[in-house]
Amino acid sequence: MSATTTQTAPSITLTSKAGGRAAIDGKPTNYGDFRDDLNRDGYAVIKGAVPRERANAYSDAFYSYLEGFGLGYDRNDPSTVRRAKLPVINEKGMILNYGAPHEKWVWDIRGEPGVVDAFAKVYDDEDLIVSFDVVNVGFANREDLPENKPWPHQDQDPAKPGFRCLQGLVNLNPSGPNDGGLIVCKGGHIHSEQFHKDMADEPRIPAWTPEWYGFTENGMQWLKDRGLEWVKVCADPGDLIVWDSRIPHYNVPTQTKQDRFAVYTCFMPVADVTQEDLIRKRDAFERRLGTTHWPNARHVGSNAAVRDGKPCPVSRERPVQDPVLNERTYKLTGIPYIKAEA
Ligand SMILES: [Fe+2]
Repeated sequence: MSATTTQTAPSITLTSKAGGRAAIDGKPTNYGDFRDDLNRDGYAVIKGAVPRERANAYSDAFYSYLEGFGLGYDRNDPSTVRRAKLPVINEKGMILNYGAPHEKWVWDIRGEPGVVDAFAKVYDDEDLIVSFDVVNVGFANREDLPENKPWPHQDQDPAKPGFRCLQGLVNLNPSGPNDGGLIVCKGGHIHSEQFHKDMADEPRIPAWTPEWYGFTENGMQWLKDRGLEWVKVCADPGDLIVWDSRIPHYNVPTQTKQDRFAVYTCFMPVADVTQEDLIRKRDAFERRLGTTHWPNARHVGSNAAVRDGKPCPVSRERPVQDPVLNERTYKLTGIPYIKAEA
């Protein structure tokens, strides 16, 4: 039996207080670490959050995972970067199904001490839960894969201003200025509230959730008029990139031969979520379903991959390799925080 079993664990009583959370309001701070960058710019890079050797091993695991579908993809043969030879990957590079968010190597990344510690530092809280978010691949040589067009957005409901969510991704391959990866509108988080006041009458780009806001041409012009710049975030394998959900962002395709691999890792204090959230999250975990970046399992996905309108022949309900959780990663599922029913 793996450590992912959902046997009844004694529920945990929260003892930590969240009073020391990092300020993310753009006013000057002197933490002396990445929190100053995050506060000022709306994003930060935590260098070497995952040691290089393990980051390389995770990259290898990602390639092996893609090859393991048995559809014909071979990392050493760029001509095999074809839709038919790969699992279903959306145009943004996300693998949403197949239980991918719960593969062992994905959970191992979420549980990397340098990753969890960064979020614990921002929230001044060790009692965190993590999203069951997707993995992302941005292939070079993507001849017949759908085009990845810019979709500048915020991952937060404009009706709920202020800092609410810190997103993150662990970068697994070199990501230089011309490689694929995250691009952000530096400092945009500070201007978010005013933006939405000024742009209240701007027609909205349709969104599947109120927790997403897409920038129109007029919106992009507003940002430009304030002198805000778009910055491709460069990172080495093992670097953790964090960003305030309010910062306008999207990902860009690579212009080089370098594939982009990223695993999204978003944590929030369990103190911020309800018992109902935790029960929904437990259900998602038990069924090995993915979520969005919201660690409270605000949205829960499906493992059924659909290819050209039909079920993908290699669709699966469980990961290839079930996660092996330790005490800390088990807490990140939120399950130990579920209060025993009376
Ligand atoms: Fe996003």
